[in-house]
Amino acid sequence: MKGRILTVAALIAASAFCFAAADGSWLKKVPQADRERVNPFAGQPGAAAAGENLFRNNCAKCHGAEAQGKGSRPSLRSERLAAATDGEIAWIIKNGQMYKSMPSWGGLPEPQRWQIVTYLRSLNPPVRPEERVAAQEAPK
Ligand code: HEC
Repeated sequence: MKGRILTVAALIAASAFCFAAADGSWLKKVPQADRERVNPFAGQPGAAAAGENLFRNNCAKCHGAEAQGKGSRPSLRSERLAAATDGEIAWIIKNGQMYKSMPSWGGLPEPQRWQIVTYLRSLNPPVRPEERVAAQEAPK
């Protein structure tokens, strides 16, 4: 009996882990050098359009055609992404969060990953730098 209760408790704990809401904890893992990387295509409309195509083909099935989010997959139009640096967004695209079902896109050529960053940035204009720091330090 005790064993069964423990099994049930373990299953509940495991499912809570699987469906944990996206909480932005990945931001804490990004190395400083990656955080500061500069998007070579920043602000280029052509790159944003190319990134939008790549997004439709690779990302929309989880994040929604308009990046609005889908089920437990977070919206990519958010204060969190507005507060993130281009380098941080590039980092999660490259590395993913495998244990939370965000795949790694390290197989895409780097310029294509920056095009996607340019597209996501066009949806999330950056907040002022001092706000950016405050948003990252605020308790999640
Ligand atoms: C198989 C489903 C899936 C696909 C495909 C996918 N993602 Fe994700 N993505 C997720 C999940 C789940 C999370 C939440 C991870 C977490 O909680 O840390 C996430 C998180 C993110 C985040 C961080 C969002 C935040 O607010 O913390 C970004 C940025 C992102 N994905 C971009 C992309 C891009 C760009 C692509 C396509 C190249 C893509 N994703 C493809 C499932 C997916």
